[in-house]
Amino acid sequence: MSFEEMWAALLPVGRDAGTGGYHRFAWTPPELECRAWFLDEARRRDLAVERDRNGNLFAWWDPDGTRGGAVLTGSHLDSVPGGGAFDGPLGIVSAFAAVDLLRERGVRPARPIGIAAFAEEEGARFGVACLGSRLLTGAISPERARGLRDRDGRAFADVIAEHDLDPALIGPDEDLLGRVSCYVELHVEQGRALAEPVGVASAIVPHGRWRFGFAGEGNHAGTTLLEDRRDPMLPFARMVLAAREAAGRHGTLTTVGRVEVVPNGVNAIPSEVTAWLDGRGPADDAVRRTVAEVHEAARDAAREHGVAVELAEESYSPVVDFDTALRDRVAAALGGAPVLPTGAGHDAGILAARLPTAMLFVRNPTGVSHAPEEHAEPADRLAGVEALTAVLGDLAGG
Ligand code: GLV
Ligand code: MN
Ligand code: MN
Ligand code: MN
Repeated sequence: MSFEEMWAALLPVGRDAGTGGYHRFAWTPPELECRAWFLDEARRRDLAVERDRNGNLFAWWDPDGTRGGAVLTGSHLDSVPGGGAFDGPLGIVSAFAAVDLLRERGVRPARPIGIAAFAEEEGARFGVACLGSRLLTGAISPERARGLRDRDGRAFADVIAEHDLDPALIGPDEDLLGRVSCYVELHVEQGRALAEPVGVASAIVPHGRWRFGFAGEGNHAGTTLLEDRRDPMLPFARMVLAAREAAGRHGTLTTVGRVEVVPNGVNAIPSEVTAWLDGRGPADDAVRRTVAEVHEAARDAAREHGVAVELAEESYSPVVDFDTALRDRVAAALGGAPVLPTGAGHDAGILAARLPTAMLFVRNPTGVSHAPEEHAEPADRLAGVEALTAVLGDLAGG
């Protein structure tokens, strides 16, 4: 299947006909369909398929005579709610296309080449981004992962057990990591930072997710006097504004993109509001100070309104500076390319703790991501495939 045919097969999967946004949450039918697509593409190419104990998928090209650790590439197939077509799948489709090009050009790699599809990269279902790569590398404990719950209250352990994974066996996989020498992830660029078709990543900025729980008293909207209310919506509203103000003070980025209200009725004062804060910034201390100030504002407002507030850190990823030797080698294989940091998280950032890791970015003319308008022009996608082909050919010593 050609590059564009692979795209055509994937494009309808999990796409909302109204908005054009994708809903491919880990272990739900659209994501399982993407996994089946991955396995078909691998088998079509005679690549050896493997699903690791954490539910990550791999396709290995390991012709006779290869030696040493594999060069791993890939990305993820899951999406945020209402996400774009390219965030994740571009890296995987490009990887299959790069293997095709290497073969067409008669390249015989000296090292194995692997293509990975990491599970639950967005954390859209169980709350922790890069869950598959975190488990693989030991960046999250199996106990904590087993207990993560989705919006319907279903535990990660129970969901993966339905897909023939043993929840008792999830966790670090030294055997698999030991078979890999480096990881190179191709990804659509997610802002307005890249003016050329292809760039190379320098770093991922610190980022994390915090859950604020506000607990008040549910009551009737028409009979409860203002002075009798303990309305959690009010400190929540203050917290949203405080997040924006603190970001302005510290040069960080804050987002409150998810909120749950109990009981969520027009004519009921809520009893509980839960809100998730996404915080990112150029340095750990700026992000930490931002979150501390948001917490303080939320506490003050909660006290004023007779509401209890609780804060839990769901995940935190410190700055990742990608391996400079690998980055320079990747840039050299491309004959030079712009080098840029990113505010988006990736499995490459998690794997960087264990392996030399690099990323290629493909230009996004809309500058929009995590939304249907995310885009990469066909010519730039091809430039990405050529770039990945050059990098894999170089690193695998073909
Ligand atoms: C994932 O794409 C993230 O950066 O949140
Ligand atoms: Mn994403
Ligand atoms: Mn992504
Ligand atoms: Mn991501």
